[in-house]
Amino acid sequence: MDKITTTTFSEQQTQLFAYEVTKKYFKISKNIIFLLEGELGCGKTQFVKGVAKYLKINPKKVHSPTFVYITEYHNRKFIFYHLDFYRLKPEIISEIFNDHIEELWNLLQHTTKKVVSCIEWSQKILDSQIHKFIKWISKENLKDKFAILRINFSIKKNFSRKIVVTKL
Ligand SMILES: Nc1ncnc2c1ncn2[C@@H]1O[C@H](COP(=O)(O)OP(=O)(O)OP(=O)(O)O)[C@@H](O)[C@H]1O
Ligand SMILES: [Mg+2]
Repeated sequence: MDKITTTTFSEQQTQLFAYEVTKKYFKISKNIIFLLEGELGCGKTQFVKGVAKYLKINPKKVHSPTFVYITEYHNRKFIFYHLDFYRLKPEIISEIFNDHIEELWNLLQHTTKKVVSCIEWSQKILDSQIHKFIKWISKENLKDKFAILRINFSIKKNFSRKIVVTKL
C-alpha cells in the first residue's frame, strides 16, 4: 500500500502538497478520487483548492459546498467534482456515494477528459462500502483508470497539519 506523510504549516503549504500529489497520481492513473477525512477546519477545502490549481480551475471558486453538497467544474481537459458530506444524514450517504460512483463510471464512457472527484467528510462513508468499491475496481481491472486516495488530516501542535495520503 502506497503511503505519503507530511506536515504543513500554512494553507499555502497544504495547497502545494495537494498540487504535487495530484501531479504524482496522474502519472499512474487517468482519473482520481480523493477521500478527504478529518475534523472541522483541518484543511480539507484548502487541499481541494490545491487540486483545483493543478486542474487549472480557479481555486477562489472552491468553497466547501456544504449546502448543495456537490459542485461540478468543467474545462478543456478536466471534469472536477467537489462533494461535502458534512451535513448529510448517514442513512442517505450510502446511496449518494453509490450514485456518484455510477455517474463517474457513465461519464468515463463518454468523455476523453480526465475526471477528478474530491469528497470531504468521507469518514461518514461506511468502511464496508469503500471496501466493496475497491474490490469492484480490482475485479473490473479499473486500477489504471481510477486512483483512490484516502487523505487523512489531523491538527497538531502550533496549528500544523499532519496529512497522510494512502492509496487504497
Ligand atoms: N497547515 C494548514 N493547512 C491548511 N489550513 C490551515 C493550515 N494552517 C492553518 N490553516 C487554516 O485552517 C483552516 C482550514 O479550513 P478548511 O476550510 O480547509 O477546513 P476543512 O477541513 O475543509 O473544514 P470543514 O470540515 O469545515 O469543511 C483555514 O482557515 C486555514 O487558513
Ligand atoms: Mg471544507
